[in-house]
Amino acid sequence: MINKMNKIVSLLRRVDCGNNKIYLKNKKIVCDACTREYIYQNGILNCLPKKLSSTQLIAIKTWGKDYSHILKEKYIIFNDVYGLKDVELIQKYSSNFNSKKFLELGCGKGRVSVMIAKKNADVYCVDICIEALKASQKLFKQEHQRGVFICADLENLPFKENIFDIIFGGGSIEHIKDTHKAVSGFYRVTKPKGINIFTVPFTSLSTLSQGIITGSIPDSKILGSFYYFIHFVLLRGKFALYGYEKNFSQVSLNNLFKNNKFKKITISLYDVTYTLKFIPSYFKKYILKLIKNKFFWPMVCVKVEK
Ligand SMILES: C[S@@+](CC[C@H](N)C(=O)[O-])C[C@H]1O[C@@H](n2cnc3c(N)ncnc32)[C@H](O)[C@@H]1O
Ligand SMILES: [Zn+2]
Repeated sequence: MINKMNKIVSLLRRVDCGNNKIYLKNKKIVCDACTREYIYQNGILNCLPKKLSSTQLIAIKTWGKDYSHILKEKYIIFNDVYGLKDVELIQKYSSNFNSKKFLELGCGKGRVSVMIAKKNADVYCVDICIEALKASQKLFKQEHQRGVFICADLENLPFKENIFDIIFGGGSIEHIKDTHKAVSGFYRVTKPKGINIFTVPFTSLSTLSQGIITGSIPDSKILGSFYYFIHFVLLRGKFALYGYEKNFSQVSLNNLFKNNKFKKITISLYDVTYTLKFIPSYFKKYILKLIKNKFFWPMVCVKVEK
């Protein structure tokens, strides 16, 4: 236990007050500057900032409900179509995981991380929602894998610089308000030549029309302010099925990563067999055809390098 804590602490830095290290003192993880204790309980370390914004609180509440349900399940399903597709995507850019440091951002129930752990990577799961981490931990136990579980906010990663070989975020960075700040943190904690891979909603006819109902906000000043005002000021997030959520255009994605010093930016269709549960099967084949057209792309994957 102490060895595991030592290993984790050696990678960490403060989240609330400056960039220095935090220490392990008398089995407690503490900050020397403000005497904050970072609580490590039942194998999950809490590194959330002391103050949380309304967007962060919405995320905790929205996702908390989902993962509380999953936690009640006896067996956690992990190798579903989305999980497998994400692992396939990561493998496209990295063939060897042996002892590589892998960080999953917004890990949810850990379905991707657990499959990467099976490939002998050194896996770190981060999520803002404690229930998500509990579900991940349960899944890792179920699959006899080891991982590190940290409750943290993607805008305020608690890690030192140059730690991770591979960072993956599947459908998670669209839930952050200050994506620019978050991405600059991803760059900081990535090793030189390390890679980041994300899947995000793409600004297209599908996301723009879906956004009217569920509050997905285009990452553009004018249109974005309009969607934000309706869904999060007037309706107070009542219909925002996935909490605060954005969609990104090719230009906004390119700028986001280029302005944060990332190189070799590739953006392509995230080609997954959408389950489209509630759509009658007659329409399904037409919708699946439409999705292949760039004007309708629902999601893209972005791969970048430090
Ligand atoms: C769409 S789910 C994706 C879960 C997982 N990647 C998967 O595919 O199963 C989004 C996840 O991002 C997490 N999340 C949302 N906002 C966050 C934030 N600011 N910091 C860390 N995690 C966040 C949510 O708690 C949720 O688990
Ligand atoms: Zn402090």
